[in-house]
Amino acid sequence: MTLLKRVKKLPQNFVWGGATAAYQVEGATQADGKGKTMWDDYLKAQGRFSPDPASDFYHLYPEDIELAKLYGLNAIRVSISWTRIFPKGYGEPNQAGVDYYHRLFQCCLANGITPYVSLHHFDSPRTLFEDGDWLNRKNIDYFVAYADFCFKEFKEVKNWFTINELISLAFSQYIQGNFPPSHHFDVTSAIQAEHNELLAHARVVNLFKDKGYAGRIGLIHVLQPVYPYPQTPANQHAADCENAFMNTFLLDGTFLGEYRPETMALVNEVLQKNDARLKIEPGDMAILKKAASRNDYFGLNYYQPSFVAAYEGESTNTFNGTGEKGTSSFKFKGVGQHVKNPEIPTTDWDWNIYPKGLYDELKWVSATYKNCKTIYITENGLGYKDTYAGVGQVIDDEPRIDYIDQHLAALLQARKEGVDVQGYFVWSLQDQFSWANGYNKRYGLFYVNFETQAREIKKSAQWFKELADTMNT
Ligand code: NOJ
Repeated sequence: MTLLKRVKKLPQNFVWGGATAAYQVEGATQADGKGKTMWDDYLKAQGRFSPDPASDFYHLYPEDIELAKLYGLNAIRVSISWTRIFPKGYGEPNQAGVDYYHRLFQCCLANGITPYVSLHHFDSPRTLFEDGDWLNRKNIDYFVAYADFCFKEFKEVKNWFTINELISLAFSQYIQGNFPPSHHFDVTSAIQAEHNELLAHARVVNLFKDKGYAGRIGLIHVLQPVYPYPQTPANQHAADCENAFMNTFLLDGTFLGEYRPETMALVNEVLQKNDARLKIEPGDMAILKKAASRNDYFGLNYYQPSFVAAYEGESTNTFNGTGEKGTSSFKFKGVGQHVKNPEIPTTDWDWNIYPKGLYDELKWVSATYKNCKTIYITENGLGYKDTYAGVGQVIDDEPRIDYIDQHLAALLQARKEGVDVQGYFVWSLQDQFSWANGYNKRYGLFYVNFETQAREIKKSAQWFKELADTMNT
């Protein structure tokens, strides 16, 4: 019996992958000379959950790659942990860390799984974090040197991403406060960190192209469309402000190499209400401009939209990239208040399920940013409380199949209408911890029994495989 629903066939040569992030899957946080990240002591002090052994991908990657192959995946997103390569973020490389990533990439390639590799996925080196992280411009130099090292060393990698979800990182660190250093309501730092990360990205892209490294490079933004609810002029304006602050600012910087006046008019409104300011140094925009047309592709993460009503006070919005139900709220003046749209279904964690938001973002990005050519959906998926069914038993996660299927249908519709979407990576390949919810929110195609580290198959993996088999037929 077929598991297929709306989507019956994948396009030819479609990239069909699963996503991971080093710190969320590897475990082994102290192994083989690895340096500390900004998370290690922070999580220890909180005592909420331990990043060890996570999904023990550091040791079990051969098993996970084999499962990926068996279930029809042809690609994987992994990230390199900066502190496995440079324990302090700079200085002498750590050979054991370098060797690990060679083994991992070779294993992927030997199994026909193409690695798409990010250089930074929320795990800044502890030493650099203490010196200001992305707020310290020296950090950018260190990142460029680390990237250059990786390009030279990991020649087997042909698909690179610089930084994952700049907005989530900055927002969670400085506004929402659920990432270290847990600042609340510091809008100046948030926007400055974003600008500096864009600069770091642009410098790395320019270096990659100027030095003629083989392969492709881009970055990853999570896009969270903002809709007024209900539709009124005031609510529309609130939605426009939030959209400019959360999405357009970063896309302008990435693909135009300028922050357009119409974008900045809205962003400035937000900054002013929050007594915040952005400092752009001479020469910054020229760097962004040079890189803007040199991105080979764009990684788009999509989970949910927000619905917004005008509100002049301090709102308690949470942001989906990382904020999860009940974990924190933040104060952010004058950008509107997130409201519930009763017509939209939600997940167990109150995230809106709205596939059309993905379609809308794909159409908007490709119409607005001519430099944004090829797009990959680098994350999309459903956080769900999967029920363990016993050793060797398939876990029934029908809602996950439904979720992915609907979003895939939206993607294929946009593709049919001319948007160049070349692939889809489900978040996540196997279960891994969530930054805010620890181990109790699962996203994987493969279940991880965190007691034993045994993997079990979910029905969504079987569905993934069935769909994979429709490709190139
Ligand atoms: C965003 C991030 O890239 C990933 O690390 C996170 O776990 C998922 N989305 C789910 O929130």
